[in-house]
Amino acid sequence: MFYRRLRKVFFKPTLSLLPIALLSSAFLVNVAAAATLGSAAAARGRTFGGAVAAGHLTEAQYAATLDAEFSGVTPENEMKWDATEPSRGTFSFGSADIIVNHAQSHNMKIRGHTLVWHSQLAGWVNNITSGSDLLAAMRNHIAGVMGHFRGRITYWDVVNEAFNDDGTRRVDAFQRLIGNAYIEDAFRAARAADPNAKLCYNDFNSEGTNAKSNAIFAMVQDFKARGVPIDCVGFQSHFIVGQLPSTLQANLQRFANLGVDVNITELDVRMPTPATAANLARQATDFATVVRACLAVSRCTSITTWGITDKFSWVPSTFPGQGAALLFDANYARKPAYTSTLQALGG
Ligand code: G3I
Repeated sequence: MFYRRLRKVFFKPTLSLLPIALLSSAFLVNVAAAATLGSAAAARGRTFGGAVAAGHLTEAQYAATLDAEFSGVTPENEMKWDATEPSRGTFSFGSADIIVNHAQSHNMKIRGHTLVWHSQLAGWVNNITSGSDLLAAMRNHIAGVMGHFRGRITYWDVVNEAFNDDGTRRVDAFQRLIGNAYIEDAFRAARAADPNAKLCYNDFNSEGTNAKSNAIFAMVQDFKARGVPIDCVGFQSHFIVGQLPSTLQANLQRFANLGVDVNITELDVRMPTPATAANLARQATDFATVVRACLAVSRCTSITTWGITDKFSWVPSTFPGQGAALLFDANYARKPAYTSTLQALGG
């Protein structure tokens, strides 16, 4: 009886009931799409990730926010060289495993960060004095770390921050001892270590069209032409409120046109603290601008914020007097930028 009455209402809508039915279905769609950052991004075929520190996962609110809102994870420090191979040939994956296991049990995609980088290098690497020895150490490091996680990592930041802002190569140990070819050597070693992972080059201040992004572009173009394996380019996107590069979308698009995925890998938008309402509103606009730029580029497959909450962001310790750079404040309250990000994703 009740069922028949239901059928009358929902399956034989009279003209007068139609607008109500349409309205309510639009409402349902909205509610479903608006649920979380991760689900809104998924509806657009993207991943919405956050950088995670293993030590914070034991804080209930941190884990709850991550699990509810994010569909991807990047270990903030736990996969770096000093953490994974603190002494030569001795690998340690305890903290990284905690993050990877957590992410997998919540169906999150994992971005490996990072294999070859001048910073957070284990001390012993800087004591190497010959190119052939450093090359051997680099290849062994890539094989050891990627081998441990083989099959579980979607994207790997194989080489990080190898260029200066003027487009020249950063002269770190790898550049000094091995020379220009260390980057392609790292990518070849990475392909061999985990053939199913997408291999990325990752950098900062390369989000707009400028000398640095031109140099990275030329490298990717050259790699593609010569068959050096590269699948993606990461644009870190550590921005200052109100100062996004106007060429962001065009720059993402030109890289995508080379046949690589592009990813926003470390997004945050810092401001002087304490934050003002005006800056929080400007920040909301900035986050939405980044999301829209990514959505406009079909190969822009993921957006990752560099942290979950302002409480643990790297910003205040590096830029004293600045912070409030993420989507959740220090008490895990959603900021205006959370709402604008969700809306820009289609929520
Ligand atoms: O682990 C030690 C701990 O034992 C010690 O007690 C403590 C005292 O300072 O330091 C701890 O190490 C810190 C580490 O983070 C882990 O918390 C380092 O001092 C600190 O320098 C390090 O900062 C990290 C930074 O990279 C290092 O360059 C940040 O957390 C991390 O967010 C940041 O991430 C980078 C990306 O990897 C690459 N792109 C830029 C981005 C921001 O700098």
